[in-house]
Amino acid sequence: MKKVTKAVFPVAGLGTRFLPATKANPKEMLPVVDKPLIQYAVEEAVAAGITDLIFITGRNKRSISDHFDMAYELENELERAGKKQLLTLVQNIVPSHVNCIYIRQTRALGLGHAVLLAKPVINDDAFAVVLADDLLDGKTPVMKQMVDAYDYYRCSLLGVEDVPADQTRSYGIVATNPVSDGIEQVSAIVEKPAPEDAPSTLGVVGRYILTPRIFHHLERIRPGSGNEVQLTDGISGLIDEEQVLAYRFNGVRYDCGSKAGYLEATVRLGLRHPECGAEFRALLESIFTKKQK
Ligand code: G1P
Repeated sequence: MKKVTKAVFPVAGLGTRFLPATKANPKEMLPVVDKPLIQYAVEEAVAAGITDLIFITGRNKRSISDHFDMAYELENELERAGKKQLLTLVQNIVPSHVNCIYIRQTRALGLGHAVLLAKPVINDDAFAVVLADDLLDGKTPVMKQMVDAYDYYRCSLLGVEDVPADQTRSYGIVATNPVSDGIEQVSAIVEKPAPEDAPSTLGVVGRYILTPRIFHHLERIRPGSGNEVQLTDGISGLIDEEQVLAYRFNGVRYDCGSKAGYLEATVRLGLRHPECGAEFRALLESIFTKKQK
């Protein structure tokens, strides 16, 4: 039985919501405590058995490929200084059996267009799509949960969660029928509908497993919401031909595409960080105690 071994990371977006921090640096390199967002996403994929990481990059994104590359100077310095632990840390950002593949998206034509660019590398295999600005924190990594579900159902799967009714304009929203615990059959999907037009409040988060038939649809659709080629519209075509399931993941999602979600991730992950968690907790407590006085 063929496993999911390839994941596409669309990282060409402009990150305008975090300007000026993202003027010269990619939003995917914003750190949560001490790791960039893209590294959390890659670690989640690698934990799911993914071995080929396909980054769809754009201008100003060189630091992403540098991050997953060898850093000769830094490694030499750390070695000379006897900083073994740090050396191991920078050498093991991706395990040696994992390949990094970079494809450049020269024009920002949308998420669907970005995913379509991976077609020559994907061939006939089902593959994962991971959006790094959704940081998903699960006891079992969320992509691993989805790959396990794929191994059972052998069809496309969308990670979903309930979103507040007034926020449907930020998500792909699905209409579904129940299949089993946590799994629903998708009967329709709409990109960023107004609350009054939304078929439900079940929002797609940035985790997908898609069959290669998606490319057939992505090649044919026209720009949709925001005048961009939307992955959601490709999936809408797929639904008419194949089973597509919505998967309610186990875990917590931090929307690191928004400032508040990013700060929440920083606080939550900071509080349980082995090195600085206790100190950070004391600091937060002192801030809140002072405020109440
Ligand atoms: C993208 C997708 C949307 C999905 C969302 C999840 O939107 O187009 O369907 O619900 O990611 O984060 P974006 O947030 O990139 O605008």
